[in-house]
Amino acid sequence: MSSAICVGIAALALLCTTRAANGKPNILMIMTDDQDYRLGSLEYMDTVQKEIVGKGTLFDKHFVTTAQCCPSRAALLRGQQTHNTNITHVMNPGMLDTELSKLLNGIDILNYNPAPKGWDNVDVLLDPYAYSFNTVVMSKNGETPVYYEGYHQSDVIRAKVMSTLEDLTSGDEPWFYMVAPTAPHTEGIDPPVPLTRHKNDFADLIAPRSPNFNPQTQQKPSWVGALPTLNSTLVDLADTAYRARIRSLQGIDEMVHDILQYLDSKGELENTYVIYTADNGYHVGNHRALAGKGLPYIEDTNVPFIVRGPGVPANRISKTATTHIDLAPTFLDIAGVLLSSRPELFDGRSLLPDWTSSSNTTSEGNVKVDKEILNVEFWGPTGIEVLPDPSLIFNNTYKTMRIVGEEYAYLYSRWCTGETEFYDTKEDPYELTNLALDPKDEDQKVMDRLNALLLVTKSCEQDLCRDPWSVLMQNSTLPGVCSLKEAMNALYNDFFAGFPLVSFKECGQVYENGTYDMGLIQMVENELPFYPPGAENGLGQAHRKSTDNYWPVEEGDCDYKSITNTEHCGSWAQRSATLEVIEKSARILTNEELPDPNMCNMLPELTA
Ligand SMILES: *[C@@H]1O[C@H](CO)[C@@H](O)[C@H](O)[C@H]1NC(C)=O
Ligand SMILES: *[C@@H]1O[C@H](CO)[C@@H](O)[C@H](O)[C@H]1NC(C)=O
Ligand SMILES: *[C@@H]1O[C@H](CO)[C@@H](O)[C@H](O)[C@H]1NC(C)=O
Ligand SMILES: *[C@@H]1O[C@H](CO)[C@@H](O)[C@H](O)[C@H]1NC(C)=O
Ligand SMILES: *[C@@H]1O[C@H](CO)[C@@H](O)[C@H](O)[C@H]1NC(C)=O
Ligand SMILES: *[C@@H]1O[C@H](CO)[C@@H](O)[C@H](O)[C@H]1NC(C)=O
Repeated sequence: MSSAICVGIAALALLCTTRAANGKPNILMIMTDDQDYRLGSLEYMDTVQKEIVGKGTLFDKHFVTTAQCCPSRAALLRGQQTHNTNITHVMNPGMLDTELSKLLNGIDILNYNPAPKGWDNVDVLLDPYAYSFNTVVMSKNGETPVYYEGYHQSDVIRAKVMSTLEDLTSGDEPWFYMVAPTAPHTEGIDPPVPLTRHKNDFADLIAPRSPNFNPQTQQKPSWVGALPTLNSTLVDLADTAYRARIRSLQGIDEMVHDILQYLDSKGELENTYVIYTADNGYHVGNHRALAGKGLPYIEDTNVPFIVRGPGVPANRISKTATTHIDLAPTFLDIAGVLLSSRPELFDGRSLLPDWTSSSNTTSEGNVKVDKEILNVEFWGPTGIEVLPDPSLIFNNTYKTMRIVGEEYAYLYSRWCTGETEFYDTKEDPYELTNLALDPKDEDQKVMDRLNALLLVTKSCEQDLCRDPWSVLMQNSTLPGVCSLKEAMNALYNDFFAGFPLVSFKECGQVYENGTYDMGLIQMVENELPFYPPGAENGLGQAHRKSTDNYWPVEEGDCDYKSITNTEHCGSWAQRSATLEVIEKSARILTNEELPDPNMCNMLPELTA
């Protein structure tokens, strides 16, 4: 499913800060849509390998907290857990309720003006074309949409980025620039369409046959547990999808090449943090799920995350557990914004000390609590993508506690169906053997601890997210603990066994007419009990503002002439096309191609 694709520049104004002084580093974040880490996609990106992995640090255990585009991007931009943004899904009503929703999904040829607020400059792909690689329609700062005829999206974005970098590097001020192309997202129900110059690359490539690819036995909860093995037709489809994804990433690798080369030529590369990442991961055939995201497993939640920049060691692999919600405070750190001037809403922590540490592992000595605990959550349906007849899949609501320690690692999930899963991911990195089905005493003891932690992290805010152990131990006479290792002491067995199971009242109902009810979004009464008592009154509500420029979507009479283009673009001749050249064949949309706002509201695409 899919995303909003924005190419924007913010002076961190979005996060209520002032401009940093001259000489401060720039930040350039390149975020692809649906790119896996675990399936090896980075290995096929030569420039990313040579210039970012080779000259920077790869964060091997960087995770998203919700494995779907809109919630993940909202969490990143706000530095909050999804249960606090309440932007829980790419579909309404999950994406309603904050002004950020418009930046992420559902910006379209009807509601492009006013442009998303808080950015100095924002240039966005518009629905219903955001996922059509050869029909590029964008609006810059709320201006009338422009159709870039005859060019592939990756080339248009590359040319726009190069033009923007020219402006940025000619000024004296540090900048924050986020580039978010659609690749390697699907195009509708089809795999992504690569630039024509890459359409035959990697002809023999197939999806990795890791131990959890289409496994013979399946010990998964909910709909995943019910999946039959993929037959040969579906395995071929998985391979085709995987190959198309790698091909489509070649245009992104070219973009990275041009960006780095240009910054270098301007003498700005060494003073810029370049971050390469994705909004969520992706599975292709893992656990028999053909293609998609939205699951708690490693393929969907562990994303590419590489940084090069001032003080970041070259050719290093960090094993510290980090997440997208840590980025907002990290960026403020880079901008030199004092703690006392920062908004209090952040649930994450600055990663700058980890980025600039020279150690390959977690901090020396004791693993700090906030460096091994990950809260991952999901509400509402997901989809199997790339099927002849894809459909939304319900009962995909769950809460997950993942521990990513050096000496031990676990995954514990509680699903809306009442099912539990528990993997020892150090022994079983492909998450195949569900120990919750027949737990040994020792397994039960670990599950008791993880369940208690999850009871806190499912609704935590700010410091409580950074140190859930202290919340659990708050009124206990037992000595405090700082890590799962310490908490495993037998002294605590009865204490942790005494917490209620994390649970849901229901998954939400799907009606025969295809509609579904509110059980699929975050409803307090569906997720009782909370811990500590009263936590349900927090949930980030103190920091939410209702939107003032979001058009409520209603189905209506929405007549407009849609652009249909069957041409595939992106020849070698276009490889270095400048924006000036591309604009020669661009045009603004005609009145017939734009819906009349008095006549309709457009439904956003049901893609994630
Ligand atoms: C595999 O399963 C799909 C979907 O159920 C079906 O359309 C296809 O015909 C099957 N292919 C084979 C070789 O059985
Ligand atoms: C970190 O790991 C990389 C890759 O294994 C290795 O080349 C490098 O020497 C290590 N650096 C340190 C500081 O241990
Ligand atoms: C969802 O889970 C509930 C509870 O286990 C079950 O009754 C229902 O049939 C499931 N619905 C779907 C669409 O799988
Ligand atoms: C779908 O069915 C449900 C349950 O019967 C009903 O409440 C709802 O209004 C229906 N929605 C539409 C769009 O028909
Ligand atoms: C989240 O948003 C939905 C839809 O707007 C709303 O119904 C729900 O009450 C909100 N949940 C919380 C915990 O704020
Ligand atoms: C600890 O006790 C205080 C005072 O009774 C209470 O307000 C607080 O909620 C308790 N904390 C927990 C985690 O139960």
